[in-house]
Amino acid sequence: MKTVLVTGGAGFIGSHIAEFFARQDWRVIVLDNLSRTLLLKSSHIDASYNWDYLHEYYAGRVQCIKGDVNDHELLRNILSQCDAIIHTAGQTAVTRSIEFPREDFTNNAAATFTLLEESRLSGKNHRIIFCSTNKVYGEKANFLPIIEKDTRYIFGAGYEAGIDEEFGIDLCKHSPYGCSKAAADIYCQEYARHYGMNIGIFRMSCIYGPRQLGLEDQGWIAWFIIAMLMGQKITICGDGKQVRDILYVDDLVRLMYDFIISDISYGLYNVGGGCENAVSILEVISLLEDECKLKANITCKDWRASDQKVFYTNIEHVKAMLGWTPMVSCKDGIRQLVQWYKDNRAFLKRYNGIYTAREQSQ
Ligand SMILES: NC(=O)c1ccc[n+]([C@@H]2O[C@H](COP(=O)([O-])OP(=O)(O)OC[C@H]3O[C@@H](n4cnc5c(N)ncnc54)[C@H](O)[C@@H]3O)[C@@H](O)[C@H]2O)c1
Repeated sequence: MKTVLVTGGAGFIGSHIAEFFARQDWRVIVLDNLSRTLLLKSSHIDASYNWDYLHEYYAGRVQCIKGDVNDHELLRNILSQCDAIIHTAGQTAVTRSIEFPREDFTNNAAATFTLLEESRLSGKNHRIIFCSTNKVYGEKANFLPIIEKDTRYIFGAGYEAGIDEEFGIDLCKHSPYGCSKAAADIYCQEYARHYGMNIGIFRMSCIYGPRQLGLEDQGWIAWFIIAMLMGQKITICGDGKQVRDILYVDDLVRLMYDFIISDISYGLYNVGGGCENAVSILEVISLLEDECKLKANITCKDWRASDQKVFYTNIEHVKAMLGWTPMVSCKDGIRQLVQWYKDNRAFLKRYNGIYTAREQSQ
């Protein structure tokens, strides 16, 4: 039986990876310090839902270890038992990285470096995936020709199919998050090149799906649904026409599994729903209003620093290399997700402990 380490395995993406690999008869080790809500300065919300979920449904197949990726000794011990590593742990929000750049650096750049170095020194030739981000492209996308439509921006001539991997990451403004992720991304590239390590770098767009502890600072689709069902305000920064391609977590996890069991030694991929699954904030809110049969309570703020007006991924490279394609359309995915949140009220209770009268009356 093979063993995979999932760092950040108590997080949203990590817990889905842990579940998927456990179902494929892998032994899974989850390493997580349960810091999501501390990092996002929302510590009044309990971040242990996925941790408890894995304990409840996958005890015996998933071993959960509470610890930090920067703990060299702990990591060395775990890595000696593993064949593969999927590194999802990290600080996830652009906004928080601007306020707390050291935490961001420590949990993204430094933690990834520690992981790569310990893997190299272990001599185990692990297969590795690093969760990078489209934010490594910084604000460069903002200088492309864009066209304003009624409910969204779209890319203009030459970029209709979205941003591919050739789009440079230099000479563009980055947030600290963009820097720490780009540093980690480049370290992965260089560890693959110099030490022959097997690494897949996944530059991901917005990933969404069940069990995401969405917050105003990160995980916007989940946050919008939660806010709506709980009768809370939804704040839109900018005009709401900003566009992202979104990818359902099941599609991502299937792709990661395919990479891990493939014989591809190195890959750098833009991963998202692609132009077919690009949606604007206004469009998502309208979809949610239909699905929830509620009217969103919206307030508006100024644009966020370093926000991209349009970003959608050209996914042709990863499709060609791994024979993969997203199966869940953005509309179906959002529908499924609304249903999940409606069916899993215990999850919503983590937010305030109480439902609003509006949500209860449904
Ligand atoms: N969710 C998205 O849309 C998205 C998009 C692009 C990239 N990413 C990247 O994917 C990864 C996973 O994202 P997610 O949405 O699952 O986030 P998440 O916050 O739900 O999960 C991250 C987990 O990492 C843990 N963690 C953080 N620092 C740690 C450390 N030093 N040691 C051990 N554990 C630590 C947290 O406790 C958390 O459980 C992140 O690296 C993120 O930057 C996510």
